[in-house]
Amino acid sequence: MATSPQSTSSPIGRDTLRVDGPRKVTGVAKYASDFQFPGMLYAVPVEATIANGKLLSLDTAAAEKMPGIRAVLHRGNIGKIFRSTPAPDFDRVCLERRPPFEDDTIRYWGQYIALAVADTFETAKAAADTVRATYSKEKFNLESHLEAGNDPDVVFTAYGPMERLQSHRGDAAAALENAAVKLDETYVTPAETHNPLELHSTVALWDGPLLTLYDSTQGVVNMRSVLSQMFGLPKENVRVISKFLGSGFGGKLYPWTHVPLAAAAARQVGKPVKLVVSRKMMFQAVGHRARTQQRVRLGASRDGKLVSLQHDYVYHMSMIDAYHEDCGEATPFHYSVPNLRVSFGRARRNIGATSDMRGPGAVPGLYATESAMNEMAERLKMDPVQFRILNEPKLDESLNLPFSSRHYVECLNRGAEKFGWSKRNPAVGSMKRDGLTLGWGMAGAAWIAGTFAAEANLELRDDGTVRVACATQDIGTGTYTILAQLASQKTGVPVEKIDVELGDSALPEGPISGGSLATSSVIPAVFKAADQAITSLLIIAVTTPVSPFLGHKPDDLALEGGRVFVRAEGPARGIAFGDVLQRGNVRLVTGSGRAEQTAFAPNQKFSKHSFGCHFVEVTWQPETARLRVSRVVTVMDAGRILNPLAGRNQIQGAVVMGIGMALFEETTYDPQNGAPINSNLADYMMTVNADAPPIDVHFLDYPDKEINELGARGIGEIGLAGVAAAVTSAVHHATGVHVRELPLKIEDLIA
Ligand code: MOS
Repeated sequence: MATSPQSTSSPIGRDTLRVDGPRKVTGVAKYASDFQFPGMLYAVPVEATIANGKLLSLDTAAAEKMPGIRAVLHRGNIGKIFRSTPAPDFDRVCLERRPPFEDDTIRYWGQYIALAVADTFETAKAAADTVRATYSKEKFNLESHLEAGNDPDVVFTAYGPMERLQSHRGDAAAALENAAVKLDETYVTPAETHNPLELHSTVALWDGPLLTLYDSTQGVVNMRSVLSQMFGLPKENVRVISKFLGSGFGGKLYPWTHVPLAAAAARQVGKPVKLVVSRKMMFQAVGHRARTQQRVRLGASRDGKLVSLQHDYVYHMSMIDAYHEDCGEATPFHYSVPNLRVSFGRARRNIGATSDMRGPGAVPGLYATESAMNEMAERLKMDPVQFRILNEPKLDESLNLPFSSRHYVECLNRGAEKFGWSKRNPAVGSMKRDGLTLGWGMAGAAWIAGTFAAEANLELRDDGTVRVACATQDIGTGTYTILAQLASQKTGVPVEKIDVELGDSALPEGPISGGSLATSSVIPAVFKAADQAITSLLIIAVTTPVSPFLGHKPDDLALEGGRVFVRAEGPARGIAFGDVLQRGNVRLVTGSGRAEQTAFAPNQKFSKHSFGCHFVEVTWQPETARLRVSRVVTVMDAGRILNPLAGRNQIQGAVVMGIGMALFEETTYDPQNGAPINSNLADYMMTVNADAPPIDVHFLDYPDKEINELGARGIGEIGLAGVAAAVTSAVHHATGVHVRELPLKIEDLIA
């Protein structure tokens, strides 16, 4: 792969290998479940085998007699686990609020009802399997057709109150009525389950009133807040460590009920306790992407100007939780349209809590709205790229604010050019290659931009090395490397000489690895910390008797390329910063930086988002009903890209996941008992290597200076937005079939 052009020694914008790569490939990197402690015990939950009803009795006698068993915990003996409540400042987020074992009501299949704790994992599993429960069963509701429940106009959600009429302007109904060309279609996306390779894992240890958790979390600071409230402890008594993750895709953002279970078990038995959720449990009690049903109504003039857009969606959710699947996130600003209405409804089902999953809300939402845009272009007999360009807004029409940086049209044009879109014959089934029918489709993408609050420390040390620390996490996206690049940018020390510490709530408070906002959030904090450390260094340089800079003012000096020098004289006459510290007999200087949250803040001056698009080719063999995605071109306008190597990798991974969303992924519930029935990696279909085509990723690389000093936004999630709509439009081009319910099945194409 080509290295990005670079005029200076700055590591920013340069293809940079993962600084944690060697630790991962040599097995030195410790994931949560790799931690071992003397006397550590193993816990395995007992899962409810009904989807709705009451737990009447538990027979634990056989389990308790097993050799090596230490405890069988249940509602009667686990001790107090308090409820956690949301804080107003995006803290204490937790999507299943009911503490485990709080009552005897079973609301979903797989809800934990007991916990076996034993000397070995095998004993704990055998004991858990031995526990017998009796229930009074009630009829469960897993109806796949979604009707909005009886909700008030303003509902409580996990992220705060939300008006169900999410956005509106003009008179969408009247404008549709009078529109020359109309569309009214409903799009359905299924429940999807996060399947990171690493299972959710917790190791809990108590030392008197101090609780330490080694956990596979995307948010150590938030987990500390939730767990301290659940155990009635001051925050500083809880420490959460998450050094390496085998990804999370949003499923690991916030604590699930197995975390307090592990902590409560460790408290009860007085030993460290390890709890690893099984692959089957990954489908039950650690979140999933909600099923959605979205009605999109569009009205346009004959010449292709949108006059009305209505997006009314319903999603499923668990019986008592409040997660909001925000399908309308991108709808109000994506295109210019004078009359718009976005609203949502919620349908309660007997399922585990729904949750964020890569590109939550916008990903299913854009599948629906971008599919509708493609179908409308077809009704208008317009090219879908030109239709979008024709409806490009000059500003965010929902907020009446300028965009901080928007190059959506350039994405569309660049993508069309790289893909060869001008050669597309729009007639269905008209394009052939090597005996295969080709389908070409495309769709647009958008995702939020901004920053979470973040703090960081940066240390300059007398051996010429640098340490940068922040309680954020690296979920596999490259955060260790980004922090090293940022510290290198400010100090001139190469990334190999920078120690990055993250994944520990004892470090300065950092952001969740979520919303694709971790990178943009840490930039101002790390830069401020570096500036403060450098100021301290320069004061030492001018006050140390054996320093060559004695008598200068700190402002006369600069640190560049790892050397301190007099600005007027240039770096050649300077000395290494480690020498400055040694001459002063100072081991290290530390600077601290903090930056406040700007994402989701009121009174914004700009509308901040990333944009992009995908062009997809499928091949279709009608004789054998064989459908393949054969190539993808993706263009992203995601601000300045700090590490194009890791960035391309993120977008490619997201496109692979988007192909899965279009063609494979679906959590299926057993109509007889309500269990997620395909709860394993054999039956839950996902894109594998054989399904993944060449994916050609391009970044526009325009810095967005409203976000942070480097102009970097985020790229974890946007690569998934729009892919499914591009795939289904390509399938329509090849086959003439409009599939409006995901995942697309071969049966849909041969009916
Ligand atoms: Mo992402 S769903 O915010 O991990």
